[in-house]
Amino acid sequence: MTGHHAGERPAVEVIYSAESIAERLEALAQEIKARNLERPLVVAVLKGSFVFAADLLRALYRSGLEPEVDFLTLSSYRKSRTSSGAVEILRDLDLSPEGRNVLLVDDVLDSGRTLVFAKDLISARGAASILTCVLIDKKVPRAVDVAADFSAFESDDAFVVGYGMDVAHRYRELPFVGRMTKE
Ligand code: IMP
Ligand code: MG
Repeated sequence: MTGHHAGERPAVEVIYSAESIAERLEALAQEIKARNLERPLVVAVLKGSFVFAADLLRALYRSGLEPEVDFLTLSSYRKSRTSSGAVEILRDLDLSPEGRNVLLVDDVLDSGRTLVFAKDLISARGAASILTCVLIDKKVPRAVDVAADFSAFESDDAFVVGYGMDVAHRYRELPFVGRMTKE
């Protein structure tokens, strides 16, 4: 990839191409459909999951599902690449999850704090069931005990960007998932 300064060496290396993501999402939608969720409500955790959620929703449509969708904007107090622990609601849901079968969608499962926070919130509001779906399941020790019910891909602890994911607000627009190779 060309950096924005002339002469800069590539900073992002492709790990999942746009084509491989598209193919994986079709299979993922079939896995989700097989759970026979009644009146599914997709809750996308913003900002990082916005591209994944948009593509997953359309793959779910193609699989025959008719999910509703809402958004929850969380901040995980993440300065650059490390998580400090606290999670805060920046923008709450519009819809009530009460009695709904929620599919919680996030970009990366890392320490697990974000997913646990979102799960606890939705559970406290009376969801009938909650399944979690992440684009990238990082195979690293969790700070809290949580596992994703569905994941598109697994990765090591490399910092990933693109396909909605950022480092310091950059790279969300990349159509592929990449890893940082240099600052
Ligand atoms: P956790 O709370 O530590 O599991 O971190 C999850 C959140 O941190 C995700 O919702 C992402 O927004 C962000 N995050 C964690 N790892 C990465 C990464 O490698 N790239 C981009 N964002 C990440
Ligand atoms: Mg996130």
